Amino acid sequence: MTGQKIDGIAVANSVKDRVRAAATELKKEGIEPCLATVLVGDNQASASYVTSKQKDCADVGIATKDHRLPQSFSQKELDSLIDLLNNDKTVHGILVQLPLPDHLDEFSIISRISPIKDVDGLTPYNMGLLASGKAILKPCTPSGIMELFDYYDIDLSGKDVVIINRSNLVGKPLYHLMLEKNATVTTCHSKTKDLKSHCLEADIIISAVGDRSKFTLTDNMVKDGAVVIDVGTSRLDGKLAGDVDYDNVIKKASYATPVPGGVGPMTRAMLLKNTITAASISKGIVTNR
Ligand code: GUN
Repeated sequence: MTGQKIDGIAVANSVKDRVRAAATELKKEGIEPCLATVLVGDNQASASYVTSKQKDCADVGIATKDHRLPQSFSQKELDSLIDLLNNDKTVHGILVQLPLPDHLDEFSIISRISPIKDVDGLTPYNMGLLASGKAILKPCTPSGIMELFDYYDIDLSGKDVVIINRSNLVGKPLYHLMLEKNATVTTCHSKTKDLKSHCLEADIIISAVGDRSKFTLTDNMVKDGAVVIDVGTSRLDGKLAGDVDYDNVIKKASYATPVPGGVGPMTRAMLLKNTITAASISKGIVTNR
């Protein structure tokens, strides 16, 4: 059996089409949706992610404000910038690109973002709503993965799910979103005993390790007919690669995401969707659902 490739680019384009239409509607009501991005320091990968996010915004009719700050930027200065953006009525979404330089307290800075402008869904308030099944602004990678399941009609109810990641950005929010859909969710990580046996039991595996030199999800870790979602991004032989040995795993799986062209485009699309949601919240259009 050869499984079906999950086409993240096609699904992301359908999300972007809806976002573009929603941005046009908001503008008719006098709201110009706007995302402020904040990048501190000179991490090249982070800089290129932020540039991509800004291009995506332009593509769907969302304005941006770009704050690129030196490595020496202090906690106090960053706190003041967040306060300024929180109070700026023309800004609907605030994205602080992570990771931040070591001298900055990431938790304190994320916590300072107004929850209604928190397009990453990472503030303690929004994480709490997520754990309660009530979040409106949800972290982009996990909600992008949920959108893929929806698009391909992959039912999660009663399924055994293994998530290989426990971060605030991916593993923890994904756990709650999948639990909400009645999956039985196991979170695995670097200290998990016998990861392979967990994976072999799973109907759905979501792998987000991101270091191909240390970990590869191989076909002998996947049961026949499983769904395999690859969130990893690293380099293999100079090329962008995920966690999964896709060419062999797809021969056993029912569905699998490639890298590139799987989860990545969805993460980017969901940021746009969250920005539109935040712009709508600013006018009281969105209710808690
Ligand atoms: N760094 C890597 N992924 C993300 C993300 O989704 N949001 C932010 N803010 N930083 C990131």
